[in-house]
This record gives sequence, structure tokens and C-alpha cells, in this order.
Amino acid sequence: MTVWLVGARGMLGGVFAGSLVHAGVRVVQTGNELDIADREAVRALVRVERPTTIINCAAYTKVDDAETHAREAERCNVLGPENLALVAHEAESCLVHFSSDYVFAGDANQPYDEAAPGAPASVYGRTKWEGERRVLALQNRGRLYVVRTSWLFAAHGNNFVRTMLRLLAREDELRVVSDQIGRPTYAPDLAGAVLRLVGMDARGIAVEPGIYHYANHGSTSWHGFAQAIREGALRRRFPVRAREVRPIATPEFPRPAPRPRYSVLSTQRFEAETASVPRPWQDALEACLDELGASAGVA
Ligand SMILES: NC(=O)c1ccc[n+]([C@@H]2O[C@H](COP(=O)([O-])OP(=O)(O)OC[C@H]3O[C@@H](n4cnc5c(N)ncnc54)[C@H](OP(=O)(O)O)[C@@H]3O)[C@@H](O)[C@H]2O)c1
Repeated sequence: MTVWLVGARGMLGGVFAGSLVHAGVRVVQTGNELDIADREAVRALVRVERPTTIINCAAYTKVDDAETHAREAERCNVLGPENLALVAHEAESCLVHFSSDYVFAGDANQPYDEAAPGAPASVYGRTKWEGERRVLALQNRGRLYVVRTSWLFAAHGNNFVRTMLRLLAREDELRVVSDQIGRPTYAPDLAGAVLRLVGMDARGIAVEPGIYHYANHGSTSWHGFAQAIREGALRRRFPVRAREVRPIATPEFPRPAPRPRYSVLSTQRFEAETASVPRPWQDALEACLDELGASAGVA
């Protein structure tokens, strides 16, 4: 079995690279030198390597920059997944593509399920929505999975946990928005969940292809998440200078791209199909902080 790991040097890609080693499969890793918007380059790699599964962790993820770089975001987030889906079909490979809670408007009061209508407010969200539509349009022609996730964090790469630890060590006080609610997701948990979806775990049963939500259990605000990071850091004696994490409202921290106010994903479909339940985000955060402590990767 051969897995092509696309976007292997990103945050999620790096985590998959580790998980797949343990799964005992042959892994072909590519970074941005293999441009997924270049269909012939994608096709050529698949012809040579013949992957049984393609895991696409590549994306244009600079949410604020996307507002002024829509073309670049579209190349990677729309054309890229479309190319991968087409070529996966030609080669009879399985494809896993990731999407985001930012495809939703964020005006709901209960968790979004997979069938909820997308209404992205940002360019990034719109390109992720169009990208998943292009993959799903080819659904009846192959084994295609779209996995929406939210608020990803890991012990490496650019993410909220690492940013907060850096700021906690440097600043006297942090101000973090408390009126945006979502579900934090630990990238290693997501990687394990995906291997279960496609039958590459000990269970060995692939679930029905299509769209799935995956996130750790429970929801919080960015402020609640930041407070939990500070408490976890203090318990581990990581450097913490900030005496307080102050809640602020979104208008007090203006950003170029609008964020959903409420983007809690329902993971019921994942739970029913895989007979497994994501652990609470607080437990996952502890695991991440332990990993950071063990690797001295703090701040
Ligand atoms: N991070 C989150 O909170 C979050 C939340 C929900 C969903 N997601 C989704 O989860 C997936 C993984 O996100 P992530 O945070 O791990 O992303 P990331 O760390 O930004 O990594 C993305 C990778 O894609 C590569 N890339 C960019 N353009 C490319 C192209 N045209 N061809 C090939 N590779 C290209 C980048 O390489 P270079 O850096 O070298 O350009 C980078 O290594 C994405 O689909 C993202 O939309 C993320």
C-alpha cells in the first residue's frame, strides 16, 4: 500500500507523516514543489507512484492574506483538490481532502451537521467551500472523502496553542476574543480519525465515502481556549509572564477577514460510522502541552 501525502511540510501534513510511519505503509511525501494546481504534475506523480490513497494536507491557509490574494487561494484550495480528485479517479485511488468550519456563516445556535448549507463570509472560506464542492461533484466516480475540521492545533507548525505560549511568555497581559465559539482539534487526533475513516487503523473497515466532520469534543471561545493554555502552561512551569488573559469582543481585534461567530461542527456522523468518540478538547490540549514539554518546544 502506498500513500501520497500532499502538503507534507504543513502542520497537519507533518503529523500525518509521523502517523503513517506507524501504520507501516509506503509514504510518498511532497511539499509545495509539487504544485497541486498543476494537473499534469499531479497526474505524472500518480502515474509513477501509483498511490492507493492520497491525503491532501496542502492548502492556502493564510485567512487574512486571502482577502487580497484570492487568485492564489483559489489555485490551491479549488483547482488543487479538483485535480487531485480527477486524478485519484483515473488511478482508482482513495482521496482524503480537508475542509474547514469557515465554510459556514456562523450565525447558527446549534452544531452544524454535514448537510448544513455553506455560506462563507471570507475569501478563504469561499475557496474551501468551492474546493470541497469540486471534490464531491466527482463522488460517484471514486472513493472520495472530505473531512471538515476546525481550530487545529499541534506541537509544531503555526497554530493558536504555540502562538499563545509565545505571547504568554512575553506579554504582561493578553487580550483574546470571547465571542467566537468553536471546537478545537488536536491534529494527531484528526490524523487517527482519518486513518479510521479509510480503514487504515486496527479495525480495518473503511466507512462510506463522502463528507464528515471531525473535531475534539466540547466547544469554547478563543478566550476560553487561551485561558486553558495558560493554566496548562503554569502547571508545567512553562515560562508565563502574562498575569491575565482578558476577554474582548471581536470589534476590539479587527482582522481583514471576517470569522464565523459560531462554527461548532457536529461530529455525530463520524461517531456513528466509526463507532468512536473524539476525546474532549481539554484532554487533547493536555496531550499537546505534554508533547511540547517533552520536546522543549515551548515559546
Ligand atoms: N489550521 C487550522 O486551524 C485549520 C482549520 C480547519 C481546516 N483546516 C484545513 O486543514 C488542512 C491542513 O491545514 P494546515 O493548518 O496543516 O495547513 P498549513 O500548515 O498551512 O500547510 C499547508 C501546506 O500546503 C502547502 N501548499 C500551499 N500551496 C500549495 C500548492 N499550490 N501545492 C502544494 N502544496 C501547497 C504549503 O507549503 P508552503 O508552506 O511551503 O507554501 C504548506 O506546507 C487544510 O486543508 C486547511 O484548510 C485547517
